[in-house]
Amino acid sequence: MSGYAVLIRESSNRVYDGDGARLLAAELAAHRPHLRAALTTIERCGPDDPMDLHLTIEGDLDEHDRRLLGNTSGLRLLFRRHGDLLEPVALPVSAEHDSDLITIQRYRGKTNEQFTHLLVNLTVLAASPADDRRLHLLDPVAGRGTTLNRGLVLGFDVAGVEKSGTEVDAYRTFLSNYWKDHRVKHKLHRERIRKGPHAGSQRFSIRLGTGQRIDVAQADTSAVGGVFPGRKFDVIVGDLPYGVQHGARHGEETDRSAARLLETALPEWRRVLRHGGAIGLAWNLRTLPRAEMITSLREHGFDVVDHPRSFEHVVDRSITRDLVVATR
Ligand SMILES: C[S@@+](CC[C@H](N)C(=O)[O-])C[C@H]1O[C@@H](n2cnc3c(N)ncnc32)[C@H](O)[C@@H]1O
Repeated sequence: MSGYAVLIRESSNRVYDGDGARLLAAELAAHRPHLRAALTTIERCGPDDPMDLHLTIEGDLDEHDRRLLGNTSGLRLLFRRHGDLLEPVALPVSAEHDSDLITIQRYRGKTNEQFTHLLVNLTVLAASPADDRRLHLLDPVAGRGTTLNRGLVLGFDVAGVEKSGTEVDAYRTFLSNYWKDHRVKHKLHRERIRKGPHAGSQRFSIRLGTGQRIDVAQADTSAVGGVFPGRKFDVIVGDLPYGVQHGARHGEETDRSAARLLETALPEWRRVLRHGGAIGLAWNLRTLPRAEMITSLREHGFDVVDHPRSFEHVVDRSITRDLVVATR
């Protein structure tokens, strides 16, 4: 027996755990179609140990493959197989910040961290390269920043729009404490907008010692162009409201319909996405069928990327999540 075996990362969400191996295989198929990854339960680490190895990869891995595997969302450890023996393989991992930037915050409505990583990876993969500069990532429905934090770990500049002042407040407080606790040089600027259509809402910017910038504004996402005038983003990544928890929580009509949100937001998102940039969206299939999502993106001038395997998975009884990636 040769090739490689993957120990899947355990998720903080038990439901997602069940799909972890399949989603990682789909991610690998999107990035490196030549890698033949198969779902198999090949070993048990112990009688009560739930950490079966669920994924095997045939053939050899070059440096590029290893770098890619080091940044996949679901891989915990990689082993080279020698018959029944498994040899751990060191993977190059480049991270600008500790991963606890993404894991510390716990709150209702948080997008699964591994899934967010997957969505960001697939979106970045679809975008044409952006010379030698930092990528600019926008989350147009940012919540408390899971996507933005992933972007920061990957070394990007990030910007977010979120309509809930409570979420923006909580995210700002978290970030400023985090940089202080981790002794990262940073400069925070916050303001409350006094005039115009966004009067009363808040925004903040943080400049990090690493040179990265974080800009977050409380606003409706369909106003993103006015919120960040003149800015163009390489990737837009968002986990749309599910129409279930958030509708109930904020009690607003717009939260209940991803379709209606897309109708007003897609033209604006396209405007702020640079040519060659990519958008990656996650949403609840129970509120919007995949075919309608794709039609909507096409009608707004995006080219939808066809993935070789499905990323659809069940989150809970009322949410079946899917993702789509498209380019401008
Ligand atoms: C699924 S949550 C995203 C959660 C986020 N990824 C996180 O982990 O914190 C969707 C977010 O979209 C926000 N939202 C809904 N409609 C919006 C709109 N029209 N403009 C801006 N934000 C909106 C909601 O307040 C909610 O925080």
